[in-house]
Amino acid sequence: MKVAVFAGDGIGPEVIEQAVRVIDKLSIKELEMVEGDVGASAYRKHGHPLPQATLDIARSADAILFGSVGDFDCDDLERHLRPEQAILGLRKELDLFANLRPAKVYAGLEEMSSLRPEVALSIDILIIRELTGDVYFGEKGIRTLDDGRRQGYDIMTYAEDEVRRIAHVGFKAAQGRRGKLCSVDKANVLETSQLWRDVVIEVSSEYPDVELSHVLVDNAAMQLVKEPGQFDVIVTGNMFGDILSDQASMCVGSIGLLASAAMAEGTMGLYEPIHGSAPDIAGKNIANPMATILSAAMLLRHSFGREAEAQRIETAVASALADGIRGGDLGGSAGTSAIGDAILARL
Ligand code: IPM
Ligand code: MG
Repeated sequence: MKVAVFAGDGIGPEVIEQAVRVIDKLSIKELEMVEGDVGASAYRKHGHPLPQATLDIARSADAILFGSVGDFDCDDLERHLRPEQAILGLRKELDLFANLRPAKVYAGLEEMSSLRPEVALSIDILIIRELTGDVYFGEKGIRTLDDGRRQGYDIMTYAEDEVRRIAHVGFKAAQGRRGKLCSVDKANVLETSQLWRDVVIEVSSEYPDVELSHVLVDNAAMQLVKEPGQFDVIVTGNMFGDILSDQASMCVGSIGLLASAAMAEGTMGLYEPIHGSAPDIAGKNIANPMATILSAAMLLRHSFGREAEAQRIETAVASALADGIRGGDLGGSAGTSAIGDAILARL
């Protein structure tokens, strides 16, 4: 059970520290953690946001626990040297194509949602975002047209096998939940989406027990705030999934609570909070480490099949929340390490 721990930038190191304490507390004998540099901090030390040494650690690991990357100071760097390339590079290099982003409201926290409490309480959604294709990884650049104007371009593509494998992940997840899969696309405008939809329909014949629907992404954004209880599993492309999962986090109450898994075929996965590096609050011991701690629970579950330990962590987090332990993101005043202490005490 070799876990690569990549803390990264901003609040990453603080929230990772608490997640590592939680994992240590479980005293799993076979589990070994190895640290590596990513993001702006890696760039400063080694001249690259995803150094070869880090990639080697990642490849030799069974799972990765990831903090966050991003730093305003790096906005002027060439794109391939920016901190975000660390996470994008790991996703691509390790073929972490299936991003699971669960969103569920904790009882008692419905008041924190930007939706009405009774609407918030109906949310129990699993967003499955394709993570290695789409406009993120297509040909891109800024070119000068013949008339001298600059033009930016990012090409959106999905090959049918890329759609097929993420569709299977979606259907299987729906089978294990409430049996509903909603595929989100923009087939009324985009050819890429038309192929996406056609392939999802083809795959659906293997899952007659799953109720499949198709919703256009603009409508999905609307339905997500209007009647989120209608969604069980959502499967969508990289770009739409990026946007909808941030939206879902606010419906739940705080982005500081949402964990995620990025899975390859099999059990290799990278686990990270869905929030970013929040440089404005970094180093102040005020970031909420819960999303990262919950990501550690997902790691134990999905990469190592340690369901009991995963649930122990999730129960400890839920109980800390129920007892009113809240960070600033949830209107409370508990600091990063105090939240870690509270969760350790409940393990
Ligand atoms: C996410 C983030 C990343 C993304 C950034 C940091 C590259 O927003 O994981 O949602 O766009 O995928
Ligand atoms: Mg995002």
